[in-house]
Amino acid sequence: MTQLPGLLDTEAIRKDFPILDRVLHDGKKLVYLDNAATSQTPRQVLDVLGEYYEQHNANVHRGVHVLAEEATALYEGARDKVAEFINAPSRDEVIFTKNASESLNLVANMLGWADEPYRVDADTEIVITEMEHHSNIVPWQLLAQRTGAKLKWFGLTDDGRLDLSDIDEVITEKTKIVSFVLVSNILGTFNPVEAIVRRAQEVGALVCVDASQAAPHMPLDVQALQADFVAFTGHKMCGPTGIGVLWGRQELLEDLPPFLGGGEMIETVSMHSSTYAPAPHKFEAGTPPIAQAVGLGAAIDYLNSIGMDKILAHEHALTEYAVKRLGEVPDLRIIGPTTAEDRGAAISFTLGDIHPHDVGQVLDELGIAVRVGHHCARPVCLRYGIPATTRASFYLYSTPAEIDALVDGLEHVRNFFG
Ligand code: ALA
Repeated sequence: MTQLPGLLDTEAIRKDFPILDRVLHDGKKLVYLDNAATSQTPRQVLDVLGEYYEQHNANVHRGVHVLAEEATALYEGARDKVAEFINAPSRDEVIFTKNASESLNLVANMLGWADEPYRVDADTEIVITEMEHHSNIVPWQLLAQRTGAKLKWFGLTDDGRLDLSDIDEVITEKTKIVSFVLVSNILGTFNPVEAIVRRAQEVGALVCVDASQAAPHMPLDVQALQADFVAFTGHKMCGPTGIGVLWGRQELLEDLPPFLGGGEMIETVSMHSSTYAPAPHKFEAGTPPIAQAVGLGAAIDYLNSIGMDKILAHEHALTEYAVKRLGEVPDLRIIGPTTAEDRGAAISFTLGDIHPHDVGQVLDELGIAVRVGHHCARPVCLRYGIPATTRASFYLYSTPAEIDALVDGLEHVRNFFG
């Protein structure tokens, strides 16, 4: 068995994930390499979810009965865990949403409805990058269409990094918000936060970071990032689906208007007008994803029990190994950085002129799960002149043997298509 320095004890970790024992068609053992799309869920989180529904299920912040108080304590306890996990200065800065897309839409709508000095209007500019997931493009396009603001973006270099050579022209005195991804879901690139934040701060622009592919894989410190908003999602970090997070700086959350109206986000309501509850509740209209938040809290406990720095080191070792092994496959082209130092564990590639959907289909027959397509980042495919990619993405339970299986599988694909 291949041993690499920095690897976690995957034999022990994999026992926590029942789904990894699945045997698929023709007795093929599951090789799950689609972790950037969604991660698998450990027994520890499944147990907490089961116990929540079996013992504590109730609506939160509303009842005076025992179950309502228990559910509220669990839900708010999950908020504490998230705040600590991302080093937020205050738990009131943690807003629960249904996913990272909703978190990013929330920021765009807060700014669209805001008063000065935050208001995005026809005299202002919004800056994103060409490597964003659609969830960090479309909300800003919608905002630009609604307000007349100009949407600008950083382009990409040939090797899959952000081209910041024109940073002073892209981020200007007119820029209201710069929103960018910390780790690309398609290219794997780690982006240079400091340079972007420094320029944004120079011109007084707000900064929003999409940390969906970062929070599951590395220590995340929102204070060190010096951003104003950070978005991520639970289902990519061993948590359930249906739970996302938006962290925002307290003074901004106090000033900015809500987006969705409804129960529990108010202070008072009359037939003429309403006043709002303080953040975070101002931004959590209606019954929130209670069990999902509790599940996310359990996922954070689980990740902490292993250690985010150890998870990062594990993935770094795997990525280095995968880049080397994929480099041995004839006609394989990695789309994104080919050095493990500044990239995460999602690796996109093309294989000669075999369509990625065909690659994915043949790999699936071998029990290997990868994602194929444009990965909700179609502008990246357009930039590199390709219709789609095949993407293998690793997590704390991934092993070198699974990378070997992928490489063998790709040889099989090449033979299959002649
Ligand atoms: N954003 C997820 C991915 O990259 C769904 O696959």
